[in-house]
Amino acid sequence: MPPSPILDYLESLRARHAQLAEGAVADYIPELAHVDPDRFGICIATRDGFVYEVGDSRQSFTIQSISKPLTYGLALEQHGEDAVLAKIGVEASGDAFNAISLRPHTGAPLNPLINAGAIAACGLVPGATVGQKTDSILDAYSRYAGRPLDVDETVYASESRTGHRNRAIGWMLRNFSILSDDPTPTLEAYFRQCAIRVTCRDLALIGATLANGGVNPVTGIRAIAEEYVQDVLSVMATCGMYDYSGEWLYRTGLPAKSGVGGGILAVQPGRIGIGVYSPRLDAQGNSVRGIAVCRELATDLGLHLFEASQRAVPAIRLATTRRGVTSKRRRSPPAAEHLRNMGHRLRLYHLQGALAFASVEPVVRELMARSSEADCFVVNLRAVPRIDRAAAGLLAGARTALLRLGKTLDFSEAGTCWKPLIDAGVEREAFYADDDFALEHGEDRLLAHELPDRAGETACPLADCALVAGLTAGDLAVLEPLLARRAYHQGQTIIAAGQSSNELFVITEGAVMVSIPTQDGVVRLDAFTAGMTFGELAFMDRSPRSANVTALGPVECRVLTRETFALLERDAPAIKIRLLENLALGLTGLVRQADRELAALK
Ligand code: DON
Repeated sequence: MPPSPILDYLESLRARHAQLAEGAVADYIPELAHVDPDRFGICIATRDGFVYEVGDSRQSFTIQSISKPLTYGLALEQHGEDAVLAKIGVEASGDAFNAISLRPHTGAPLNPLINAGAIAACGLVPGATVGQKTDSILDAYSRYAGRPLDVDETVYASESRTGHRNRAIGWMLRNFSILSDDPTPTLEAYFRQCAIRVTCRDLALIGATLANGGVNPVTGIRAIAEEYVQDVLSVMATCGMYDYSGEWLYRTGLPAKSGVGGGILAVQPGRIGIGVYSPRLDAQGNSVRGIAVCRELATDLGLHLFEASQRAVPAIRLATTRRGVTSKRRRSPPAAEHLRNMGHRLRLYHLQGALAFASVEPVVRELMARSSEADCFVVNLRAVPRIDRAAAGLLAGARTALLRLGKTLDFSEAGTCWKPLIDAGVEREAFYADDDFALEHGEDRLLAHELPDRAGETACPLADCALVAGLTAGDLAVLEPLLARRAYHQGQTIIAAGQSSNELFVITEGAVMVSIPTQDGVVRLDAFTAGMTFGELAFMDRSPRSANVTALGPVECRVLTRETFALLERDAPAIKIRLLENLALGLTGLVRQADRELAALK
């Protein structure tokens, strides 16, 4: 492992707590008494699968009660919340792990993490025989850990020989019909699940899997359906440390589970999993060093779930208007002028981070507050990895409210947010591949309001084209016959990237698109309409064409070749100077726009 300040920290934490020799190894399961009491490992696994481990992090021991939340998850997946809640409660018992805490009339165990509830949950695991149940359990735990786990047969046999109290609990559960058959196979499966061998590295990865919504971050394999992860973490938070659960949550703020094998598993939801192994236990059956280490970790690393500073990151990363960022479609001079004046009525937002109620609420508030001063809103979701149902519903609601006011709200680069937004009722036409197309749509709406007749953008006599602006009628009469006429059909390639560049194009009819192919398709760099010039960059610096230019519908161009341009220098230098001035003006416009965009996107 490469050196890391996090590893250094874990080493010093381990060294500090290695002195702690209080407590005693569990011996009520005789085989557990044989473990080396000084073993000590600490491990942290991140939600993206990176593992920091120190000490005896690969020493195996039996999982014992840490199995309980995992088996509870299996029961939930098999039967659903309601059926499981009918048999096993979710109230902290405040009792010892082996207490016979059953509700007076129903006999339902108070929670799934005391033995009674864990045995009841084991009864709900798929499989009728010990073997079938053990297979379901081993299979699930192995998916959590990301490697095949097995049962320590000696520890299993030891507990099976001596587990009379658990057998009594099993028969009590049978008496109340919480277990519907002979409890023996369930009890044996429970003893086997407790004897599954893990390391504290495994515990950290099991924790990281829960932190990651149920998917092991190293293997990418799902261990538990996402909808039950919060149920499992909730019972860990309220009941995971038995009669120390209240103080544990108060001190560490972490859902956790201990086992008499000496392990502790703790989870910072959405972030990390922690595994600690040290076999000496306190009176409650929790690892003494494990508790001390987790308490210190939680304080030092600020892991407490209720820490006041854990505020949502602001979701609005960028807010700008059409004054700063425009679509790539070049507009005719009157349209461009109008858009310049109306630019503030088209607003662009870039959002970031996972969107949930707390992060999306300020966005919705902003959109609605701006609804009187703007007509079109574009929300870019490229930096949003996830959106939950509530947030998608709020954005869909904002769109409906804005549409009712005659405004638009479109989304660009929706990625993984697309489906939740569609499910929340956003129409497909609200989605754009990128800001460029979404902004173009907004600009078209602004233009439709004020300049409904945009016929001027489809054809332009040569005399009105930007390249020849300022030429006298006489100059034009000289130049016109020198410019070849070319016609293209819809979709035809006018220029291909890589070609040499001896021609400059003026569009007299139709529109063209400049694009480059990328791994996700095609990115539009520009869209030009009649009256505009293209191909000037490579024409000027003689580099090969850097992009493709395609006809958007029937197109007619006039073409100035490099030879003609050279001839003009000799025969009509005034015309050449004027053309160069016009080209320079076009380029300064481009540079200014690029500067504005850079400033706006900062
Ligand atoms: O049922 C038992 O007693 C053991 N197999 C598991 C108990 C346990 O790990 C309690 N936790 N601290």
